[in-house]
Order: sequence, then structure tokens, then C-alpha cells
Amino acid sequence: MTSAGVQASRPGGVLYDPLDPETQRNPFPVYRRLRDEDPVHRVASRNFWVLSRFEDVYAAARDTQAFSSARGLTFEEDEIAKLGLAPTIVMMDPPRQTALRRLVSRGFTPRRVAGLEAPIRAFVVERVERMRAAGRADFIRELAGPLPTLVVAHFLGVPEEDRPRFDAWSNAIVQANAAGRVLTNVADAVADLYRYFGGLIEARRAQRRDDMISALLDSELDGERLSDAEILGFCFVMIAGGNDTTTGLLGGAAALLTECRDQRRLLVECPERIPHAVEEFLRLTSPVQGLSRTTTREVTLRGRTIPADAKVHLLYAAANRDPREFGPTAEALDVGRRIHRHLAFGSGPHFCMGAAVARLQSRVALEELLGRLPEFAVDEAAGRYAPGPFVRRFESLPIEARA
Ligand code: HEM
Repeated sequence: MTSAGVQASRPGGVLYDPLDPETQRNPFPVYRRLRDEDPVHRVASRNFWVLSRFEDVYAAARDTQAFSSARGLTFEEDEIAKLGLAPTIVMMDPPRQTALRRLVSRGFTPRRVAGLEAPIRAFVVERVERMRAAGRADFIRELAGPLPTLVVAHFLGVPEEDRPRFDAWSNAIVQANAAGRVLTNVADAVADLYRYFGGLIEARRAQRRDDMISALLDSELDGERLSDAEILGFCFVMIAGGNDTTTGLLGGAAALLTECRDQRRLLVECPERIPHAVEEFLRLTSPVQGLSRTTTREVTLRGRTIPADAKVHLLYAAANRDPREFGPTAEALDVGRRIHRHLAFGSGPHFCMGAAVARLQSRVALEELLGRLPEFAVDEAAGRYAPGPFVRRFESLPIEARA
């Protein structure tokens, strides 16, 4: 095994093990080899396939007829059986997923998203100032960890007094994600959370408020309404999908900005470039490294045949650094890069429903961080990555908070 978790099993062969801790810390060398040498790769030891070129991952994510989400999103065979949860929108295929998504999207109005900006900014300013006063802090504990939890709580309409309980359940679910169990193995937290949201649904049914759950209760399409189980499932997906992903983006952006001083200067001098830069941070960090599908039929790609019923891992993070799509500087940070599309939020029917929310909090966090602490520096070598093959994120990252 080399330092990047790559092993040549035959001349020109690539051995990719997403569960290898060194690969999780720095997966980019093996991603490069997968793209260049074996773009339709089979991980024999775990019996799944891997796509890594932009063109292939993009096409597979959009082709839900051949690449199904209904049998889970990891390369584990029996994931759904282990779940013990009602299948949620991310683990369904069209047309049912399309219908549910249409109903749920009524809760994601631009007005509701824009309404989050003031509480996000107030929280970020408080935390950035706290880091400044302390001089040294843990960027994840102070800001990148709690911000997304606060945002999901606001969005769902969790009252202030229930926040400590909500935060504890969110943390349990995020820990489970880190252990490589996407949406699984968190039975106690999920049961508590479901009980709690069951109560919240009842309260909103009796009296509507201006929050997501009230909107979901009211959404109706062609005479169809969401069941309580579907609303609960959706709350769960928001918590499981909205937390450590955003933490990953913010921690990764802080590390890139520490490394690339010239790029940082561009943003400090021209903060109006930040929204565009967020897309470049999304592309390069790709917090969701990859998710799997199951083939519904035989698929032939680049001369190789993937059988029906095979797990295929779509490596969004490898695709997002593919020079065939992004040119020879694909692996470098360029905050002015022209980006037509990227795969950090997936693509096609399952494109991230929280993209606008994630973009908003990342923009505000970077505006306040760069505006108030333009000389900040994080210590990547002293930071720690959360274990797990699916979401890549720092779980601790020391920061020197210099103005
Ligand atoms: C930087 C932050 C985020 C990243 C990188 C991210 C990434 C993704 C990706 C890659 C998918 C596609 C899943 C697939 O291909 O199967 C997805 C779906 C989804 N995301 Fe996000 N996400 C982020 C933040 C959020 C937030 C903040 C929310 C909620 C407020 C959210 C809610 C969802 C939902 C509901 C889906 C399922 C959509 C569907 O299956 O139709 N995400 N996200």
C-alpha cells in the first residue's frame, strides 16, 4: 500500500479501497488513477463498480432507469434491509420520487430560504467574534459544525427551547454517517426524533406557523397529500443530508483559503466574488465523495459490461476534478473559474434539494470570516478528518483567528 492508499495489483491496475483511512484522508491520487487508467473500475473484494470520469458519473446520475436508488445509496448489499426506516425520497426512483419531490419542494420557497439569512448572519458574526476574542479555536466546533444544525432547525421550525434535544439527535445521526452507515444504525436517535417530530406535526396541524412542516402539511398536488410518515422521512433526510455535508464544505474552504493566499486576497478585496467562489469550493471539496446506485439491467460502458443488479459507486468528487471537464487546472483552486456545472450536489432527479440553503450559509460564513478575520489560518496538518467513505469533512480544525 502506498501513502495514498493505492496499490498496483497488476501493471496499470488500480486498487481502490474507500474504507482505507489513508484513502479517506487524501483520496485524490487514487481518484486520478481511476479516471485515467480504469474509469469503469471493479472493486473485486467488495463486489461493486466505480465510475470516476465526469461524463460517466453525470450520465449515470441522470439515468435513473438503469441506475436505481431504490436499493440504497451505499455499496453495501443489504443496506435497505438494515435500515428499519420507511424509504425516503433519496432512496426512491421516479415516478414516485418525482411526485413526492414536487410536494416537498413547496416547502423550499425562495422566500423561506431568504428568511434564513438574518439568523444565519447573526450566528456567524457571534461565532467569528468569539474566535477573534479567543485568538485560537476549533473552527469546526465553533462554526462549521453548529451552523448547519441551526439552519436545519430553523428551516424545520424547531422551537428554541427544543434545540438542545434536536442538536443531540442531529449529532447522533451525523456520527452514524461518519461511521459509514448512511442513514442507518442510529435507531435510538431516530426513534426519539420521530416521536418528537410526530408531536411537532400534531402541533402544526392544530395551528400553522411559517415553517417547513406547516408548508408540508398544506402541500397538495393532484389531490395527493403527504402522509405523516412521508413528512417524518423528509425531516430525517434534511437532518442526515444537510449537516455534515455543509460542515465539510466550510472546513474544506477554510483549508483551501489558508493554502492559496493569492486566491484569498481576490475574495477579501472583492467580496462580491464570494457567491461564485462557493461553486469552486463545492467542486473541489465535494463533501459527498460518492453515492451508489444499483443497475436494473446490464450496462456496457467504455468496453466493459456491468451486469444487472450490480452496485455502482458514482464518485462525484473524482468527477469534479476531471481535467476532461474542467481543463488542465482542474485540481487547483481558481475562484474566478467559469463553471457551467459540477456534481457536488449530484445531478438529475435527485439533485440536492437543499442546494440554495447550503449556498446561502456558505456565502454568509465566508463573507463574515473573510471580512472580519482576513488573516485567519487553519492548521490542516493538526486537523482530523471524520472517518467514513461517503462524506469527507474535518471533525476538528484548529484556527488562528487573526484580523
Ligand atoms: C454543502 C452542502 C450539501 C451537499 C454537498 C449536498 C449534496 C447532496 C447530494 C450529492 C445529493 C444527491 C444524492 C444522490 O445523488 O442520490 C443531495 C440530495 C439531497 N439533499 Fe443535499 N447537500 C448539501 C446540503 C443540503 C441541505 C442543507 C439540505 C436541506 C436543507 C439538503 C437536502 C437534500 C435532500 C432533501 C436531498 C434529496 C433529494 C432527492 O433525492 O430528490 N442538502 N444532496
